[in-house]
Amino acid sequence: MNRKKIAAGNWKMHKTFQEGQGLAHEIRTMAETEIMNDAELLIFPPFIHLQTLVKQMEGSKIRVGAQNINQAEQGAFTGEISASMLTSIGVSYTLIGHSERRQYFNETNETCAAKIKTALAHNITPVYCIGETLAERESNNHFTVVETQLQALIGLDLSKCIIAYEPVWAIGTGKTASSEQANEMHIHIRKVLNQLFNDELAQAVSILYGGSVKPENAQELFAQSDIDGALIGGAALSSRDFINIAKSF
Ligand code: PGA
Repeated sequence: MNRKKIAAGNWKMHKTFQEGQGLAHEIRTMAETEIMNDAELLIFPPFIHLQTLVKQMEGSKIRVGAQNINQAEQGAFTGEISASMLTSIGVSYTLIGHSERRQYFNETNETCAAKIKTALAHNITPVYCIGETLAERESNNHFTVVETQLQALIGLDLSKCIIAYEPVWAIGTGKTASSEQANEMHIHIRKVLNQLFNDELAQAVSILYGGSVKPENAQELFAQSDIDGALIGGAALSSRDFINIAKSF
């Protein structure tokens, strides 16, 4: 199965406007001179960067996405950003349900499903983040947790969706799931997608691994049968590391 290979950088709440332009410039320059594979590069900077970086990346292989959207079309939701605001400046991807959104901003599987529905209705590709906490893995509930996170999407057309499996215990901790642990879950995710949707979708959807991905471990992760790329946090704040990860396919 020829699935899209993707290296996605989640900048989280980092980089001032000027710093963001600098980092994006370095990424574009390095990507143009060094990346020979057909991997897609995505960057997810904070909202203030989006308009400038969409322009800055025009004509390059790098696409720019948001870290979150609101599920409503518009309205009295102070502090929120809508899908049509994003498309009006050329944004075509968004993260949905990152574990930090679930943990600190109370996003549930149902909220995530509503956001994905809105994103798809606006032709924005959602990157749906799922994964278990340490307690859930230690109590052997990791497969069930991920199943429930996927069940919330029943009824949606996921053919344009990307999935990111990010075990919460591996995010920002320096602990990476072993490539076997990660691949085992990716295979399980495809099995669940086959049960809930169909085999064609299960085989076609790109599933990224996230959680302390670095240039040192990317190649081994990408060599696994069902890992199609990475969602990168800390290492995506360094142009060198981000590009080296993208070169590891
Ligand atoms: P990390 O973050 O690479 O810093 O572990 C990954 C993520 O949160 O997407």
